[in-house]
Amino acid sequence: MRTAAAALAAVTLLLVGFGGRVTATVNAAGKPVLTPSRVKIAGHDIYFESPPRPSGLLIIMHKCGRSGSDHWPRSKSCLECEGLPQSLAKVKQALSRGYAVAAINSKDRSTGGGGRCFAWKNDAAAVAEAVRSLPKWVKLPPGAPVVLDGASSGGSLALRLPSIVAVSGVIGEVIAPPGLSDTLRQMREGRMRMPPALYIHMPRDTNMASKVKSNMDALKAANVAVAQIRVDRRSIGSAYFSDLSPIISPRLSAELKRKMRAMGLLDSKAFLKVEPSNVVWNAFRSLVSSPKALSQLLASLKPQQREQNAVLVGKHILECIHTAWGHHETIGEHTTAALEWLEVKGKRDISRLVQRHRPARLSSLTVNTSGPQWRPRS
Ligand SMILES: *[C@@H]1O[C@H](CO)[C@@H](O)[C@H](O)[C@H]1NC(C)=O
Repeated sequence: MRTAAAALAAVTLLLVGFGGRVTATVNAAGKPVLTPSRVKIAGHDIYFESPPRPSGLLIIMHKCGRSGSDHWPRSKSCLECEGLPQSLAKVKQALSRGYAVAAINSKDRSTGGGGRCFAWKNDAAAVAEAVRSLPKWVKLPPGAPVVLDGASSGGSLALRLPSIVAVSGVIGEVIAPPGLSDTLRQMREGRMRMPPALYIHMPRDTNMASKVKSNMDALKAANVAVAQIRVDRRSIGSAYFSDLSPIISPRLSAELKRKMRAMGLLDSKAFLKVEPSNVVWNAFRSLVSSPKALSQLLASLKPQQREQNAVLVGKHILECIHTAWGHHETIGEHTTAALEWLEVKGKRDISRLVQRHRPARLSSLTVNTSGPQWRPRS
């Protein structure tokens, strides 16, 4: 009896000790890691999170149709958060590097085609204000890097913003704004300087690839450090979806692949045969976008498929499909490489950095809180 009680006490102590150590790592707001805080700046909703002692700040602008809340996993403290695979991967890598992260909503919050895009006239002044005031919100030390990262319409804004506000670096995803050489000319006449710029794009979109080339030529001619990361299409293996999304189980992943194969969507090497907007995708799309149909599938895969919210899972599946097609999607896989390249002002070979830092599996990325930035503030 006594031995059993003593053993139980020891177990309890161990759990308390372990629990104590786990909860010791909290973000600057004192909340569990990957819980965002919210702030409104110039009428724009901003989601942000910081280690207790951030050493940099990454400010993210989403592509059309998306939101700042896409970047954190759904939790009781963020019911609107969607943790989309590529967006969440950016936050995990930035926090692991000791950066604070902020993701801004575009002013336009309408849904449907052309909605939720960033536009210069709606957003430039507000984002510039956020760039100036966010460092204070997250207690960023003076001189620490402030990096802009935008996808598509958000990237177009990110690449042009240095003409009105100083930043240390810019990441532009699947975009190359026209008129960048005019912006550079204005910058030479004014006081602003273009910081190092990194283009991450999907060269299967050949039209965009040639725009990226002319942007890069213009920047090189103006002696700006510039580089690119080219992201190719993917084939759909059985673990394709579960390797990207933390809320898609291997069972669901294999089932999705099986259905795609049966619906004739994959070629002999398991690449997507036709563009995901094509009519041949209708059957698959109605499975994924109809909460009722997808709910049934999810329920049949319990208990391995833990996330049962069909709307949320459907969005994750579609993002994975667009990544596989490889034309125009947010790319969050290279944030560590991008931040390191910007920190050294473009003085390292980007392809080596990509090789060194490419996560083996996006869905298993965790936030590394061993760095000094995560030591609690005393
Ligand atoms: C976690 O971060 C620490 C400190 O920055 C680093 O030394 C360590 O290698 C990192 N661990 C992993 C698994 O990346």
